[in-house]
Amino acid sequence: MAFCRGIVSEIAISFQNVTKTYPLYHHFKGGIKNLLFHPLEGIKSLKSSQFMAIRDISFEVKKGESFGIIGKNGAGKSTILGLIAGVIKPSKGKIMVNGGVSPLLELGAGFHPDLTGRENIILKGILLGLTRSEILNKIKKIIDFSELEEFIEQPIRTYSSGMLARLGFSIVANIDPEILLIDEILAVGDKNFQDKCLKRMLDFKEQKVTIVFVSHSMDYIDMLCNRVMWLDDHSIKNIGKPELIIKQYQQGNIS
Ligand SMILES: Nc1ncnc2c1ncn2[C@@H]1O[C@H](COP(=O)(O)OP(=O)(O)O)[C@@H](O)[C@H]1O
Ligand SMILES: [Mg+2]
Repeated sequence: MAFCRGIVSEIAISFQNVTKTYPLYHHFKGGIKNLLFHPLEGIKSLKSSQFMAIRDISFEVKKGESFGIIGKNGAGKSTILGLIAGVIKPSKGKIMVNGGVSPLLELGAGFHPDLTGRENIILKGILLGLTRSEILNKIKKIIDFSELEEFIEQPIRTYSSGMLARLGFSIVANIDPEILLIDEILAVGDKNFQDKCLKRMLDFKEQKVTIVFVSHSMDYIDMLCNRVMWLDDHSIKNIGKPELIIKQYQQGNIS
C-alpha cells in the first residue's frame, strides 16, 4: 500500500481509458431531410447517438513535467484540459489529478465583460481561492506583467482578444499554480508578449511546476515540452519526445 502511494505521488495527472461524449444533437450536420420526413424516429435516434470528443485516452504526466498536446482543430485538446481542470466530467474512465490546478486559461473564460480589468483580476483571484488581501498584494505585479495599466479601469468588453489573453496569462502566471494549464494562449497577442509568456513558462518549468501546454506552434512546443501527445481524430496517435512527435505530426503519419 505504502509502495502504491509512493508511486502515485510522483504522478500529477493520470487518465485511464477516458472517453468524453456529447449528445449528437449538438453536432447536427447532415440528415436534415430525414429528420423532416421522419421527425419522431429522427429525434429519437439523434438523442440516443453520442458524439465522441475524446475516445479511450490513457496517459500520465509526472510532477514537474512539461507536457504538450498537439493536433488539428477539433481533435480533443481543449476537452482534455477541461477534464484536468474538472470543469467537465468524463463519460467513461478514470482521471486522477494530484495538486492544485490553475484555472483553465482559455480566451476570456471566467471573465465578466462589464467589470474592469482590475475588478476581473480580483474576482478571478477570489474564485481561485485567494483571499482579498492576497490578491491585492499581487495585483500590481499582475497589472505590470500584463502591460495593460492604461486600460485597467476600463470594462473588459472593450478589450481585444490579445488584451484578454494578456490579462488571463498575467493572473495565472502570478498565482503560483502547482499545475499550469495553457490552451493556445500564445496564439494571440503580439510577438513581444508571446515571448514574455514563453519566458515565464520556462521559469515555471525550471521551478518544476507541472505544465500542460496546448499549442499549434511547434517552436514553442519544442522549446517548452519534455514530452508531447499527438491527438488525431479524438484518439492518441502517439506520445513521445518533442522532436519525434513534431516530425511525425508534420509528416502526418507515424512511420
Ligand atoms: N460542449 C460541447 N458540446 C458538444 N460538442 C463539443 C463540446 N465541446 C467540444 N465538443 C466537440 O468535441 C470535439 C473536440 O473539441 P475540442 O476539445 O474543443 O478540440 P480542440 O481543442 O482540439 O480543437 C470537437 O469536435 C467539438 O466540436
Ligand atoms: Mg481547443
